[in-house]
Amino acid sequence: MTTSINIIQPDDWHVHFREDEMLKVVTKYSARVNRRCIAMPNTSTPITSSNQAINYKKLIESNSQSLNFEALIPCYLTDSLNIDDFTYALQNKIFVGGKLYPSNATTNSQYGVNDIKKIYNIFEILEKENSVLLIHGELNRDDIDIFDREKYFIDEELYQIRSSFKSLKIVLEHVSSDYGVDFVKTNNNIAGTITPHHMLLTKKDVFKDEEINPHHYCMPVVKNENDLLSLRKAACFDNIKFFLGTDSAPHHIEDKKYPNSFKAGIFSSPSSIELYTSIFEEENALENLEKFSSINGPKFYNLDINTDYLTLERSETIIPDYTEEGSIKIKNFYANKNINWKASKLDV
Ligand code: DOR
Ligand code: ZN
Repeated sequence: MTTSINIIQPDDWHVHFREDEMLKVVTKYSARVNRRCIAMPNTSTPITSSNQAINYKKLIESNSQSLNFEALIPCYLTDSLNIDDFTYALQNKIFVGGKLYPSNATTNSQYGVNDIKKIYNIFEILEKENSVLLIHGELNRDDIDIFDREKYFIDEELYQIRSSFKSLKIVLEHVSSDYGVDFVKTNNNIAGTITPHHMLLTKKDVFKDEEINPHHYCMPVVKNENDLLSLRKAACFDNIKFFLGTDSAPHHIEDKKYPNSFKAGIFSSPSSIELYTSIFEEENALENLEKFSSINGPKFYNLDINTDYLTLERSETIIPDYTEEGSIKIKNFYANKNINWKASKLDV
């Protein structure tokens, strides 16, 4: 039985650090194992300008408790961006790409886009600069079932974007369905991030007896067994177009109370690489973990592959219920459950 594995240090291509005290508490959990993280720009004031991105990056890195941790910031796309500033920020690597939030699809997406045609000029710039369009791929409309939002987005919007901007590099974030996996696999210049929770939960873990478990509630919502299996297969074996993106999205425990207020988001960063490792082990694919966690992402983003290593050791750990510090209290994903791996040290 494998007791220890070394992998090139991972990156997390999708994580939420928030602001203020929350940011101070959560950032170190991602910096504990990752060298780089894409810090999503859906802060309460969204990150839409080069200055905001520079300041947000500094704030994150100075709170990471790590000396070589790097935050990469995508621009929150709106139809009223300052185009000169956006282009300047892409050219100077201040923005790592642009994040498309369809309006009202998820947390703080009210400033997002309600008609993608209005930002075709932005797609053109991203394509020209060989940058990346990151997409929250859900169409949020009253007549669309919550479980079908990804499919509708693909059918009604993503096919259009794909065929209008053939060289534009696209990441379909937190792919959540077999349909989404298939789209990524069969189209060019598109990759997908996959979260641990979409490979561990199905809708039965969220919706039970007409109630919702707020701690398993996220966007896109987790789906059927068949979707979960397809995501596991994509992460573990279709190992070029898919890479690590936890979508770790902390909310204070007070914002996770059903039925009064329950924001979408699952906080997994305290045990993210350990969860992925357990999943790859269950799938008998430990030898493919490194590609998913540390190689496919930088290749797609055209960035260097990390040079340090992370060691994972077999060791039984129970994930604590909460992450608690000062006035912050967040429920941990997979709380009270056993995991078999522990990231132990970084070797140079
Ligand atoms: O569940 C989610 N929470 N999905 C997202 O896309 C955003 C995130 C958040 O920011 O809370
Ligand atoms: Zn997210």
